[in-house]
Amino acid sequence: VTALDPQLFGPGSARDARFQVKDVWAEMVNFPPDHPEANREFLHRQMNEEVEGLELCARSLADFPDAPWEVRMEMARQCWDEARHAVAFRRAFEARGGIVGQYPVLTFQYRILTRIDTLAGRLAVQNRSFEAAGIDAIHHDLALARQAGESDVAELLEAQLADELQHVRYANRWVKELVAAGGPRASFDLVRAVAQADQAMRIVAGDAVVSFPVAEELRREAGFDEDEIRTVAQLTTRRL
Ligand SMILES: [Fe+2]
Ligand SMILES: [Fe+2]
Repeated sequence: VTALDPQLFGPGSARDARFQVKDVWAEMVNFPPDHPEANREFLHRQMNEEVEGLELCARSLADFPDAPWEVRMEMARQCWDEARHAVAFRRAFEARGGIVGQYPVLTFQYRILTRIDTLAGRLAVQNRSFEAAGIDAIHHDLALARQAGESDVAELLEAQLADELQHVRYANRWVKELVAAGGPRASFDLVRAVAQADQAMRIVAGDAVVSFPVAEELRREAGFDEDEIRTVAQLTTRRL
């Protein structure tokens, strides 16, 4: 495996000795969807991603101490939400006989985000790209969990969806406010941040980018306008 470009990828967030941390998607276990362990591996991977969401918000709170108080409060609340999500996924995972650390994990979101040096850029990538793609995925998974009679997972996803909508909604508001306050330079930084993350994401995903149908109604609720909903299908910063 060749080392990842340090311009695009910072160091990963720390994981204790239980975890095997990989760099790219191809190094994960990649069970086919009908494999008996596929669901359990998903729950483990999602648990780790929720921890990453928490770590990213906490990191941005520390990195941007002068950001407006209201957006800092939103980020602090998001830390709390992501911590609850991690616990909920762990519970569902362990209820299915899983042992924490059983499958490899990635910390690609943290590695990509910490190479973006503006708060607007981080909110655009973490909340408006990764989490908004998460809304499409949760919407899709929720229907599957209900069909399969997995009521604990369905309940978890419903609660998570409500929280993720708020994370995307506040980012939609604050990316605009921060860019408007920062002038032309801020618009340029924003475009560069999104392009950089997109480039990094293509390296992580390889040819494994999976996208779900755009949950248009939910995205509207999360503050995207009609143009943004139409163009989202062209982005590659999608959920793996
Ligand atoms: Fe979450
Ligand atoms: Fe979130």
